[in-house]
Amino acid sequence: MIAINNIHKVFNTGKANQVNAVNGITLQIKSEEFLVIVGSNGSGKTTLLNLVAGSVMPDSGTIIIDDNDLTKMADYKRSQWIARVFQNPMSGTASDLSILDNFRLAAIRTKPKGLSIGINDKFKQQVKDKIVALGMGLESKIEQPMGTLSGGQRQALTLLMSVMDSCKVLLLDEPTAALDPRSAEMVMRTADKLINDFKLTAILITHNLKDAYNYGTRIIQMREGLITNDLDKTQKATLKQNDLFDWFA
Ligand SMILES: Nc1ncnc2c1ncn2[C@@H]1O[C@H](COP(=O)(O)OP(=O)(O)OP(=O)(O)O)[C@@H](O)[C@H]1O
Ligand SMILES: [Mg+2]
Repeated sequence: MIAINNIHKVFNTGKANQVNAVNGITLQIKSEEFLVIVGSNGSGKTTLLNLVAGSVMPDSGTIIIDDNDLTKMADYKRSQWIARVFQNPMSGTASDLSILDNFRLAAIRTKPKGLSIGINDKFKQQVKDKIVALGMGLESKIEQPMGTLSGGQRQALTLLMSVMDSCKVLLLDEPTAALDPRSAEMVMRTADKLINDFKLTAILITHNLKDAYNYGTRIIQMREGLITNDLDKTQKATLKQNDLFDWFA
């Protein structure tokens, strides 16, 4: 479970441009819950995700995952539990390296320092087996540099890499915003499948209300650093797509 307790984050404190980005949010996300966050630009969604990932530190409040208090823990240490996928398909993987090398880097991401993973035939086959499951034919391209792939292909592989190790939590910040509709759909389906298969706790930020409607087991809306709507699995199931549009009226 992720427990976010009365978390605050102010940017530019005391200055004319002060922003109360996250304004005292308390939120408990159960294990294997798939939480969707919607909200207008600047409502604090990314800041909340950054607070969970540790790339932004809170002014007050705590963040606990299972029994671990992460509040003061550096982001790289949190990466043993938390994986992230960003909006930009270029972030998250190394363009110049092959798909295989990127998978190798991903595999050693959370391993103890100094431990190396050689690219032997067994590892190669493991990577291929995983990639086959995407159904995109990328298993024949594993020696190709990551930078030669399309944004959608890259984003799908980034997702796959991010859930390879023991991570329990997957954070997705508009992972399909830079993709064409077909690639976006493929990446969302991939994300949904991986979240289910690996029994992950997931948080998805999206401006795509159709995705917000179709995916996830819970949905919240944020506004000015606060949660203004929160529907659990049962409530979300009875939600109509138009109701969601009304949230933004
Ligand atoms: N590092 C920062 N320094 C100063 N202000 C920041 C910083 N990060 C975020 N903010 C401000 O905090 C507020 C919330 O930003 P945030 O990125 O969390 O919004 P968001 O809901 O993710 O918006 P979007 O939908 O546009 O991605 C905004 O007013 C933003 O300008
Ligand atoms: Mg954002």
